[in-house]
Amino acid sequence: MVPRLASLVSSLHRSAMTSDTYRPRRSVLYVPASNDKALAKIASLACDTVIIDLEDGVALADKVSARHKLTGILAARPARRCEMVVRINPLGSEWGIDDLLTVAKAEPDGILLPKIGTPRDILDAGDLLDDNFAPDIVKLWAMIETPKALLNVGAIAELGRDQASRLACFVAGTNDLVKATGILATPDRRYLTPWLLQLVLAARAGGLDVIDGVANDFRDLDALARECAEAAAMGFDGKSLIHPAQIEPANRAFAPAPEALARARAIREAFSRPENAGKSVIALDGRMVERLHLAEAEKLLAKAAIIGA
Ligand code: COA
Ligand code: MG
Repeated sequence: MVPRLASLVSSLHRSAMTSDTYRPRRSVLYVPASNDKALAKIASLACDTVIIDLEDGVALADKVSARHKLTGILAARPARRCEMVVRINPLGSEWGIDDLLTVAKAEPDGILLPKIGTPRDILDAGDLLDDNFAPDIVKLWAMIETPKALLNVGAIAELGRDQASRLACFVAGTNDLVKATGILATPDRRYLTPWLLQLVLAARAGGLDVIDGVANDFRDLDALARECAEAAAMGFDGKSLIHPAQIEPANRAFAPAPEALARARAIREAFSRPENAGKSVIALDGRMVERLHLAEAEKLLAKAAIIGA
């Protein structure tokens, strides 16, 4: 009973934290750890999160030298608080464990695990971090990019309800999903969309953030803006990016829209009127508004205040 109670208290604490400590993850940029020119740019970029990549962005011959550079890269993190996450190689690969142990010592904000399939993969990584005294601030992020992970996504997300698991965020690995399943990658992402929605649903059930996959055609910013708008409408918190030019469209798409902010202010004002003080449902401009809409409005306004929208 006691561990169950502790887990419940921890999960309640976590849901309380997520509503009042919003952390923007609108633009999440991959930077290969082997690309010095790209690394040098980080301090000047306006993205919310950087993912220093040791996995698919790094050639096999550079895997070990890229890992050796990590401590220096993280020590030089920009003073402006930009979240720094490191994507390691799969734990089962020849580099995975050494990647994890080296990265954990450098204390990034998160370690992104690629090619996971089951909750066990998250628990194993968490055990390794605990055994090596990595502080609790080092969170785990998970790529959802294999058919197995998609089939298990609800059970994986459930770990987010227990802070001890460290799980904080899902990232859609759309290129790998296309490759592993054989679906056709169309510009409107019609065959991916059901899985992406399932991913958002699971993330919300587990109290996790969730980031959409990359747009490969980094010169087509109109297509990117469309994809970001669609991802925001699906409920994603942000978009994985591969090029600095993609940052501004993503920041714009995942920030609250001016009309949504105006509506949120109107809802807050309406509920603050003395005649509405005890009411759970009111009418506003011919529409029903409930207390749940007030909570949603407060959350949106808090989010806008944090990102300066
Ligand atoms: N992060 C930081 N800076 C980047 C960057 C990135 N992901 N991608 C490009 N830049 C920099 C370039 O170094 C260049 O810098 P400069 O102005 O000092 O010369 C500038 O942005 C313009 O780059 P550009 O010439 O347009 O592109 P490129 O040909 O140098 O690079 C890619 C194109 C796709 C190879 C590169 O963007 C990249 O490697 N992206 C990440 C890929 C990745 O991580 N994939 C795995 C995860 S899906
Ligand atoms: Mg991948």
